[in-house]
Amino acid sequence: MQKNFDVIVIGGGPGGYVCAIRLAQLGFNTACIESRKTLGGTCLNVGCIPSKSLLNLSENYHKAQKEFNSLGIESSNIKLNLTKMMNSKNKSVLTLTKGVEFLFKKNKITYLKGKGSITSQNTVTVVDESGKKINYNTKNIVISTGSIPTSLPGVKIDEKIIVSSTGALSFDKVPKKLIIIGGGYIGLEMGSVWKRLGSEVTVIEFLDHIVPGMDSDISAEFLKILKKQGINFILNSKVTSVARVKNQAVVDFTNKESAKRQRVQTDKVLIAVGRKPNTEELNLAQLGIKKDIKGRIQVNKKFQTKFENIYAIGDVISGPMLAHKAEDEGIAAAEIIAGQAGHVNYDVIPAVIYTSPEVASIGKTEDQLKKEKIKYKTGKFPFLANSRARVNNETEGFVKIIADEKTDKVLGAHMIGAHVGTMIAEVAVAMEFGASAEDIARTCHAHPTHTEAIKEASLAVDKRPIHY
Ligand code: NAI
Repeated sequence: MQKNFDVIVIGGGPGGYVCAIRLAQLGFNTACIESRKTLGGTCLNVGCIPSKSLLNLSENYHKAQKEFNSLGIESSNIKLNLTKMMNSKNKSVLTLTKGVEFLFKKNKITYLKGKGSITSQNTVTVVDESGKKINYNTKNIVISTGSIPTSLPGVKIDEKIIVSSTGALSFDKVPKKLIIIGGGYIGLEMGSVWKRLGSEVTVIEFLDHIVPGMDSDISAEFLKILKKQGINFILNSKVTSVARVKNQAVVDFTNKESAKRQRVQTDKVLIAVGRKPNTEELNLAQLGIKKDIKGRIQVNKKFQTKFENIYAIGDVISGPMLAHKAEDEGIAAAEIIAGQAGHVNYDVIPAVIYTSPEVASIGKTEDQLKKEKIKYKTGKFPFLANSRARVNNETEGFVKIIADEKTDKVLGAHMIGAHVGTMIAEVAVAMEFGASAEDIARTCHAHPTHTEAIKEASLAVDKRPIHY
């Protein structure tokens, strides 16, 4: 077995596996270490992919149950078979993780199964399931070990009653009552799934709004829509304890303004208060590789740690914990190792919440621009006035384009509505090319499509939308 490599990538998630493929394309003798049974990391195994599968399936179920009859698709006796639904999700996950393994073979990447740690600047140790240790020599190392869920102080996640997103993706029964702590990405996506499947869902959020960091217009509209869907929200409240009582849990929380303390009993609790870098078992302290106060590995612009041949990418370094950000860093790091000019434009990273309607955001928010004292103008267009959205009964939400007041350059876009998670790519391309709102407005958009809302919002920046 081969023991010497040009590059060893530690972690086979979207950051690591993409980096390994790009390295192999560039001609490096590459290995990738993964401790999970399958490749693909959190994203493919217990994150993006299974959650999007359940979001899609639960939405179909919800529509068949609540909407089809009124649209002339008469159906009766719509029943949920949760086991089958979970099997369908598991099948999608398996197909995609096997797909990554196939890509490794195709690119002649050595797949090392086990837990990797860095023993010296040029040595990586892999411990496999049976405890067998093997040392490998390498010229370069890329750390891409991702992140793990955080919990609240003193709260133990058992993945049965008190769960992280991992447990919430595999309940064997629809919980009657589900309390979600945290109104961020995970809380709202998983809350949507279980609400549609029949749970009574309550989200307890520390702040007075949901999805912190999102454009405030979007956050307010999103809250209104989710409330209309029947999800309960308790805002401005800090959860102080979560304890298991037999087969249930009790959650204590305090309202931040009134200091009123409350207790609720529930069948399941999802802790969705953020994630933290997964770096504990890498031996970083021994090597003197520094982390910041949030536990993120400190790297320079070339993703290098204090050792110029040890790189770190994805959730273990600063920036949004998003699969596509990690992928782009993986490609950039591989190109930098090859002596090329790998680069990630952090100003143009889309963020999407895959609820129904979807939420998508890119670039600066109005709040950020106000803080930075940058003068801007906005254009907004509601899906209510978009013909395709109307015929599809998808009229909720709007598109907002933000452009520089003087130059008209697009600085950001924030959308809530059906398909906006896909539509945001148009603005990403426009922003990468330094487009103005006028550029988007003068680009011919197919009719009838939801994307016309982007054109109209761009026209609205100059106060001349046609259909509103
Ligand atoms: P998050 O950072 O999105 O949201 C956590 C929420 O918990 C915040 O709103 C925070 O104010 C609240 N919170 C914190 N402590 C609390 C307390 N004691 N009581 C009540 N509320 C409290 O974190 P989340 O949802 O766990 O997601 C983790 C990461 O995974 C995020 O960085 C996100 O980017 C990523 N992710 C991305 C997805 C996507 O791209 N669609 C989907 C799921 C996760």
